Amino acid sequence: MPSIRAARYHRCGVPREVLQVDELAPVLPGENEVMVQMLSAPINPADLNLIEGKYGEARPLPDVPGNEGCGRVVAVGAGVDRSWVGRMVLVADQAWRESGNWPVAGVVAVPDGLSAGRATVLRVNPPTAWLLLHQFTTLRPGDWVLQNAATSAVGRAVIEIARHRGWKTLNLVRRAAAAEEVRALGADAVVVDGEDMAATAQEMLGGAVPRLALNAVGGVSATRLAGLLAPGGTLVTYGAMSKEALKIPNGFLIFRDLLFRGFWLTRWLRAAPPDQVSSLFDQIFRLAASGCFAPRVVAEFQLGEVSAAVTRAEEGGGKVLLRLGG
Ligand SMILES: NC(=O)c1ccc[n+]([C@@H]2O[C@H](COP(=O)([O-])OP(=O)(O)OC[C@H]3O[C@@H](n4cnc5c(N)ncnc54)[C@H](OP(=O)(O)O)[C@@H]3O)[C@@H](O)[C@H]2O)c1
Repeated sequence: MPSIRAARYHRCGVPREVLQVDELAPVLPGENEVMVQMLSAPINPADLNLIEGKYGEARPLPDVPGNEGCGRVVAVGAGVDRSWVGRMVLVADQAWRESGNWPVAGVVAVPDGLSAGRATVLRVNPPTAWLLLHQFTTLRPGDWVLQNAATSAVGRAVIEIARHRGWKTLNLVRRAAAAEEVRALGADAVVVDGEDMAATAQEMLGGAVPRLALNAVGGVSATRLAGLLAPGGTLVTYGAMSKEALKIPNGFLIFRDLLFRGFWLTRWLRAAPPDQVSSLFDQIFRLAASGCFAPRVVAEFQLGEVSAAVTRAEEGGGKVLLRLGG
């Protein structure tokens, strides 16, 4: 078998400086593994954090980054039904490669009718949004959910899922220019984050007292979000785009009994029984088929251009995709 190419980092550091494309000897799929010819993979903030050595969990080096991606099964190992061959699947971890082997239990089969371009972003962010909305509070029809980083892939999925479930969203964005784009997804209210946003937000809420707030920014943005919660409400932190620590006034705990929780999809997936995982992806694929979760792609790069790709991803504005084959 010819060698395959993979993006790898041999030490943690600035992604564009430490990433290189290596030739690797291909390995036949082992027991209960499938060999996947990769098609594409997005670059997510967690990928950059992992390469920088700033993620919650380190991996042995050298490592292939890529916390999600999409490809087609081309071979199976012992114990795997041959009907997997030819199926499009989503893989988790080590996705930035032309091909590789993954345990069959960890790949997700993509239903017919979804293109690779649509499917490649469905493994991480929409499931995170779904679980953030369903795991922490029982929301009733018409209830409000608050969030920051509303332009992010998770934030956009939160808006689309909430709209589908009959919940309202109040969304903080950091650029006024992003408000219209977020409204077009179905956001009920959009406010530019800043010191004076509370009065505007409260006016938009019209007396409603939200019980759930989703935080992907940290720092004072999270404080402002929590300030809008009802007594006993929950702020779930799942990202830290500002890289600033949470700042929680004592009174939020003493007088308002707010709950501060965290969420990590990897932890949830490691603990969840297989039927819960498949039911989660059934919901995600059903919504994707109805038009939700279209990626906001700003650029596409070949694997050999991975340094340019991560540089573009750091600039933000939408997802950068790596084309890996096909
Ligand atoms: N815990 C989990 O299991 C889990 C799962 C998935 C994602 N995440 C996390 O969720 C967050 C969003 O991921 P994503 O893939 O959806 O993001 P994304 O699509 O790449 O978007 C990034 C978002 O962060 C905002 N942003 C960038 N730098 C910022 C800063 N310095 N201060 C405030 N906002 C900033 C961007 O705003 P602009 O549009 O204005 O640039 C945009 O809304 C990340 O922190 C990611 O690691 C966590």
